[in-house]
Amino acid sequence: MFGFGVLLIIFLAVTTQGKYIVPGGRWRDTDGNLVNAHAGGIIFDDKSEKFWWFGEYKIEGQEEGGGVSVYSSPDLATWESHGIALKPIEGHPYISPEHIIQRPKVVYSEKAKKYHMWWHADNSTYGWLLQGFATSENVAGPYTFVDATAPLGNWSQDFGMFTDYKDGRSYALYSNGDSVEGRDVYLTQFNYNVTALEEVVYRFPKFDLEAPSVVQTDKSYWALMSHKTGYRPNNVVAFRADSLGGPWSQPFIVASLNTRTFNSQSGFSLRINGTKKTTYLYIGDQWDMNSLWESRYIWLPIDIDEGRKTLDLAWHDVYDLNVKTGEWKPIQGRTYSAKNAKTNGDAYKQEANFATDGVILTGIYGNDSTATFDGIEGSGKPQWVSFYYQNIDDMGFGDQPGGTPDRVGGSWQLRRISSVVVNGKTENVETLYQRDTHKGIILSTPLQLTLEKGKRNTITVGGLYNGFDYKGADIDRIVVYPPES
Ligand code: GLA
Repeated sequence: MFGFGVLLIIFLAVTTQGKYIVPGGRWRDTDGNLVNAHAGGIIFDDKSEKFWWFGEYKIEGQEEGGGVSVYSSPDLATWESHGIALKPIEGHPYISPEHIIQRPKVVYSEKAKKYHMWWHADNSTYGWLLQGFATSENVAGPYTFVDATAPLGNWSQDFGMFTDYKDGRSYALYSNGDSVEGRDVYLTQFNYNVTALEEVVYRFPKFDLEAPSVVQTDKSYWALMSHKTGYRPNNVVAFRADSLGGPWSQPFIVASLNTRTFNSQSGFSLRINGTKKTTYLYIGDQWDMNSLWESRYIWLPIDIDEGRKTLDLAWHDVYDLNVKTGEWKPIQGRTYSAKNAKTNGDAYKQEANFATDGVILTGIYGNDSTATFDGIEGSGKPQWVSFYYQNIDDMGFGDQPGGTPDRVGGSWQLRRISSVVVNGKTENVETLYQRDTHKGIILSTPLQLTLEKGKRNTITVGGLYNGFDYKGADIDRIVVYPPES
């Protein structure tokens, strides 16, 4: 018995993610499954004293209509699955598996003493443009469908929700479709019960944006939205105002130029009112168009300067957030540069003035043309390793006229896949997904690896088949982070 208990503890320690937040990593719940809650929303529930995350549940072959999943967490880093909060019902007029159930959000209605869930309710061709409503006595659900309606008679596509912490009033945010009469984003106040919309507070006119969210500081409001490129990432923008009714500022880009918001789309933001500090988190989605169910999450602290009226997202591979105090800090890692890596086969180091040490590893292909980093210090425990890469497949939006930053009519490929092998153990090949980047733009993607204790580890990067080719992306450096303590 004792032995089993110890084994169980070791097993849990290995399979749970622990306490760091790692944007773009494969996040696993406490059962070891991938966290499956896309384009979702998070609330802090006073009763359970936990965070609850609701999102779109997607599995292979059922990318839409999987219902709304729900997870709870004490620290925003450890997630426990509570299954499906809103289950699709076969033959139902609005929530059957054939329907669109997107961007779910939940708030607690003080008046109704119930949890209210709202989402973008649609048919499979996005022809209805409605808002769905369901309720539950318990935060985890099950939620019971109430209705799907057109907000104040209008169309409603991407759905967001925001509750003002000063007066407790909730608001719906929704883009209202792609037609010429649409293309606005609405900010509309709910009634006190949060059972219906009452009054349009502001209309962001004709910017043709979507995936809206509002961040509230003590002084101001910031509305974040993405452009409309479907599941392809673009430059998320923000607007600023002193009050929800405006006047709102011009939109401005929130992340480093040409990173396409670190390959993510906005959708939600979270205010963490800590004992020492208030921290705002950007809760974004890193969609994987080739396998939507494998899409990941990009969560980053938001940096707001009220004086300069700016809002910025800066990249951090790994950070530690204390939800009690509100403080967070980036974790420092050890860098291994392309300059010191060894190449095999057709892989080689090419001059690149934008690279960390002036060269980038390119020509990585299949099992033979690989690059190896050696002398890597490991801990013997799972630890995050970030691979900084450039993937310059042309970002042509082949099927979408007009949306072609790099190549008119080009064939857009979402990602390359590299193989990662530790210490030559080819029986354990890890798959590293590397999203498309602009030329000269270096982004990173993390993998959790177990290196041996000591300084003699090697990491070899090759190319895996991604549906088109066996090319791996070009590598600039890797950064090895300490394991969680
Ligand atoms: C955008 C929207 C998502 C979803 C996809 C479908 O990314 O924000 O909610 O509707 O388009 O293409």
